[in-house]
Amino acid sequence: MKQAKCLIDKDYAVGTTDHRLFSSFIEHLGRAVYTGIYEPGHHSADEQGFRRDVLGLVHELNVPLVRYPGGNFVSGYNWTDGIGPVKNRPKRLDLAWKSIETNEIGIDEFVDWCKKANSQVMAAVNLGTGNPVEAGNLVEYCNHPSGTAWSDLRRQNGHELPHDIKVWCLGNEMDGPWQIGQLSAEDYGKKAREAAKIMRWVDPRIELVACGSSAVTMPTFPEWDRIILEHLYEQVDYISLHRYYGHTAETGDFLGSFVDMDYFIHAISATADYVKAMKRSKKTVNISFDEWNVWYGVEESYDVWETAQPRIEQTYNLLDALVLGGLLCTLLKNCDRVKIACIAQMVNAIAPILTAPGGSVIKQSTYYPFQQVSAYGRGEVLQTIVTCPVYESAICGEVPVVQSAVVWNREKEEICVFALNCDQQEDVELSLDFRSFNAIRPLEYMVLDGPDPMAKNSFAEPEKIKPRPATVSEPDGGFVTVILPKLSWNMMRFAVRANS
Ligand code: AHR
Repeated sequence: MKQAKCLIDKDYAVGTTDHRLFSSFIEHLGRAVYTGIYEPGHHSADEQGFRRDVLGLVHELNVPLVRYPGGNFVSGYNWTDGIGPVKNRPKRLDLAWKSIETNEIGIDEFVDWCKKANSQVMAAVNLGTGNPVEAGNLVEYCNHPSGTAWSDLRRQNGHELPHDIKVWCLGNEMDGPWQIGQLSAEDYGKKAREAAKIMRWVDPRIELVACGSSAVTMPTFPEWDRIILEHLYEQVDYISLHRYYGHTAETGDFLGSFVDMDYFIHAISATADYVKAMKRSKKTVNISFDEWNVWYGVEESYDVWETAQPRIEQTYNLLDALVLGGLLCTLLKNCDRVKIACIAQMVNAIAPILTAPGGSVIKQSTYYPFQQVSAYGRGEVLQTIVTCPVYESAICGEVPVVQSAVVWNREKEEICVFALNCDQQEDVELSLDFRSFNAIRPLEYMVLDGPDPMAKNSFAEPEKIKPRPATVSEPDGGFVTVILPKLSWNMMRFAVRANS
């Protein structure tokens, strides 16, 4: 059997996770909003038409921020279409996803939904067809207390208190030819800088996210990032990264996606730090990985202009969930730089939660690793030393067969070890060295694996893929041994006491 060792030392931490690392995203896209979170006729709908069954699953995911309303959608969206009496709201062509937007849900309703979901809005402004003044007006509508036209309009629309939206994205993927109103790096840098100035003059407490490269594969990466930051470094707090991973011809490449994500994070951090040095700035621009997921990006043809048509409703298999677990470990291990990360998306469109209109809701396979990491991945991420076999991937280079992350929650006196075994043929024996702690006691071990990596949950078989309980060896002189089954995602919790 292959062997892996993981040395865990309480004195070496990468950093403490920002709770916003476990965030998500809902776009006006397909059935994410309409028949996703919102379906007035549904038997579980509350008085505002929000599905309670969906809210129940969202609660379990415990997401602190939800990015909204896009995505590509935001680059053609006029936010004023979505406020005021619903009967007066216009129906519009949504050019991003080729559908009809009814505007039944707008910023006010989404803020209400987020409150019900124990979450907060991370708002994106339109810098495609929209302009900096309209972006400033939205901040004023949402965050200014009262006494101005926009803030009083919010109050008139039923929200006396400001929404107090803290984090704002300056557009979406403006480097992409698919974007409505794509811009060059120079033009985006200038437009976003002016929007940032106005938005911050309206509310100086807000945090701003600049659009970074929408993928490491973009021909403009990383020049785009350098140029835009040269224009607006002092105006922003974060630069965004987006990346989706699909199942390529080689499963080993797909499993190694976490290596690529790590590379992307380091490349953009280095680019941001280059601009920091150039500008002699004292500020560090951190990373908002505000779209990440597994997504095969299959081409779809959109020939019907309707509302709530299925769009990019990928159904996820076991293998996809394993890859997602590997990506989560990478986000944790970069928590010193990645402060915000949004799994894209949350409901129906490339999402861990899938609804049937008028019917039930299920957890996709990818729900589980996200839920576990959100529940037990908060705390100090420890800098481990892992030795394990590697394999060569044509796309990612050298891939360790075991990808892991270790998080110490001091308050709870708990350590959680997350581990992906990428080996397609063999189990791996993992030896965890906890000697810098005492009184280790295994609390829980859950494994996500199965005989068929292509198996999926469905409305007929909603629990086909879900974690199963397993056991680890009794601690022996500070060591714990665990057999990671081939192709598996593992979550182990231990009660620990630090040696004084
Ligand atoms: O999440 C789906 C789409 O992927 C988003 O609208 C866009 O930002 C990205 O290309």
